[in-house]
Amino acid sequence: MTAVLVAPSILSADISRLGDEVRALDREGADWIHIDVMDGHFVPNITWGPMVVSAVRPLTRKPLDVHLMISPAEPYLEAFARAGADGITIHAEAGPHADRSLEAIRSLGRKAGIALNPATHESAIAHLLHRLDLILVMTVNPGFGGQAFIPAMAAKIARIRDMIGTRPIRLEVDGGITPSTAALAVKAGADVLVAGSAIFSDISHGSYGAKNRALRAAAVPADVA
Ligand code: DX5
Ligand code: ZN
Repeated sequence: MTAVLVAPSILSADISRLGDEVRALDREGADWIHIDVMDGHFVPNITWGPMVVSAVRPLTRKPLDVHLMISPAEPYLEAFARAGADGITIHAEAGPHADRSLEAIRSLGRKAGIALNPATHESAIAHLLHRLDLILVMTVNPGFGGQAFIPAMAAKIARIRDMIGTRPIRLEVDGGITPSTAALAVKAGADVLVAGSAIFSDISHGSYGAKNRALRAAAVPADVA
């Protein structure tokens, strides 16, 4: 099995000290840095755009995993690629032409991902598998950190793992990931864990190593280790 990666989401960081937070994540074991872009239209919240990706870029050599919760996404792909995103994930529901947007992401030299809201069936992306480096299963309704993992998503993760088969596509889960839901998600087939609250949940900002390790440890079930 591929190693499970931990991708802390800076949505829950102390934004007033974003640079320090990103350096701390880099130092303390994050595999990727997950950046949640929200437009107040596709989701009921607004975060940041390419300028923040550019600002974070020089602070870490870890891949920047940019999750676009915006609609339309296509007009902004180049700006996010130029800003330094390594992976760009669009939503299947964001429309209008996911196939073309994914092709554009790869032609910009970036890893292409597609995300599915909890209500979206995986058949929506069956025709896109050849264009994908990553599938992101939203395990909460997107828009905010700190929500609870939707249990029905475990079966969906397992079905998508089957769909992926032997293709080199990462399966990422995002929303409500804690050590216990991480174990569930990985058992179902996930191999990238996005975590916001579980990493930044208390005031010990900067000490993220133990939390990253806790997620990673939970992701290795005793019967597999
Ligand atoms: C939610 C975002 C997530 C969010 C996860 O819309 O896509 O990346 O930051 O936060 P937690 O881990 O707190 O659920
Ligand atoms: Zn996200």
